[in-house]
Amino acid sequence: MVKHLVAPSILAADFGNLQRDLLMINETEADWLHVDIMDGMFVPNISFGPDILKIAKKNSRLVIDVHLMIEKPERYIQEYRLAGADNISVHYEACTHLHRTIQQIKETGAKAGVALNPHTPIQLLSDIIEDLDLVILMSVNPGFGGQKFIYQTINKIKELKNMITERNTSTLIEIDGGVGLQNAEVILQAGADVLVAGNSVFKAENPKLAVYGLKNIGVKGLYV
Ligand code: DX5
Ligand code: ZN
Repeated sequence: MVKHLVAPSILAADFGNLQRDLLMINETEADWLHVDIMDGMFVPNISFGPDILKIAKKNSRLVIDVHLMIEKPERYIQEYRLAGADNISVHYEACTHLHRTIQQIKETGAKAGVALNPHTPIQLLSDIIEDLDLVILMSVNPGFGGQKFIYQTINKIKELKNMITERNTSTLIEIDGGVGLQNAEVILQAGADVLVAGNSVFKAENPKLAVYGLKNIGVKGLYV
C-alpha cells in the first residue's frame, strides 16, 4: 500500500520567520506544502496572496498545494499557477461553472482539485469525480486554523472512497482542518490519502517530530 501524504499548512507558520519555517519543513518527511488563500468574502478571513506563494515556492522542496477559498476562483487560476502552485483546488460552493474551471486548472499543467465545505454532500461530485486529481474534504468550516475536527467527516471520507473505487478513478482524498496525532489514524482508516496539518505541526513543541508522527501513524510500536 502506498503511504499517505502529509501536508503542513503554512497558515499556522510564523510569518515573521517564514523562510526559517519552510526550510525546517524541508528537513522532514512532509510531502506537500498546503497554502491557504482566503479573500474575506468566500470565507470571513483574509490570508495572503501570490507574493507569499512565490516565497513558499522558492524556499520549499515540497509539492505546492494551493487551496483557494475565494469567490470566482477562475479569475486567479493562471496567477497562482505562475506563482508556483503544483495543485490548485477550488471550492464547489464558489464555482458556477465548476467543470470549466477544472479544465482551466488542467490547461495550466497543474493538478486540479475541488474542496467541499462540511455541509456539502459527497454526491454532488458524482458528475465531476472522473475529472478530479484530488478532493479536499473540509473537516472544519474554512477560514481559520486551529478549529476542532468535525467528526461527520469520517462518514464523508468513506462515502467518497466508495465513489472513487466504484468509478475507478485515481482521485486523492485530502482532509483539511483539525487534523493531528489524536485523529489521524481513524481518518486514514476511513480512506484518506493526504493529511493537512496546520497547528498540529507548526504550533507543536517539536514540529519535526509532529510531521514524523503523522507520517508514521499506524507503525507498530511508535510513540511520539
Ligand atoms: C482552514 C484551512 C486549513 C487550515 C488548517 O480554512 O483551509 O488548511 O490551515 O489548519 P489546522 O490544521 O490548524 O486546523
Ligand atoms: Zn486549507
